[in-house]
Amino acid sequence: GTGTTTETATTITPGTAPGFPPFEMKEGDELVGFDIDLLSAVVAEAEGYQLGEWQEFAFDSLVPSLTSNKIDVIAAAMTITDKREQTIDFTNPYYNADQAILVREDGSFSPSKLSDLSGHKVGSQSGTTGENIAKELIKEGTLKESNYNSYDSYVFAVQDLQNGNIDAVILDVPVAQTFADQRPVEIAFTHETGERYGFGIRNGDDDLQSALNEGLAAVRDSGRYEEIRNKWFGS
Ligand code: ARG
Repeated sequence: GTGTTTETATTITPGTAPGFPPFEMKEGDELVGFDIDLLSAVVAEAEGYQLGEWQEFAFDSLVPSLTSNKIDVIAAAMTITDKREQTIDFTNPYYNADQAILVREDGSFSPSKLSDLSGHKVGSQSGTTGENIAKELIKEGTLKESNYNSYDSYVFAVQDLQNGNIDAVILDVPVAQTFADQRPVEIAFTHETGERYGFGIRNGDDDLQSALNEGLAAVRDSGRYEEIRNKWFGS
């Protein structure tokens, strides 16, 4: 790994993909959010490890960056999926989410189920579980491939939604809710996927995995998890 051992602790370099509020986003030059606070708290409780400097990537570059040792841990609201588990490992889950279909709040398009997206323009972020849903819709013939836009960041997707370039964005419910609170967009309906987020680590980094899982348990037990959740989601 890229970890460097000092007398006391191994430094692990964290990677994320900002533009996914309130989990990770930029406030000016500063990287902030639930994942940033939570991983910091977890590593502070993880025996033998300390956190290095955050590195930022496009979401679909995070797994390759991990496997090529550019980073040692992913904290990016990343859903634990069977497909990803073929390449990397995850800690225990730390947050649950479903998918939402986000539309403009002007009432110009009000879908209530996935098949209603037929004939409309849809966007999501490249490499996400939201994009997987769009790809399924394309495969089954509900969505035309030419009506699907893949974005490097959900911020650009939501901007295109506001501009009228697309009609719907598929993304995680808590993030859709955050955009809906800040912009003239709303959740048309949710699609239950039962996703669980975990911190991503390299296959075989078993010591790190145990340390992070123990850190996560300690952060939950101490009430720190709830404090961080309340800070970013309200109580
Ligand atoms: N939970 C979804 C997934 O794992 C979306 C995560 C997007 N995260 C981000 N930091 N942009 O695919």
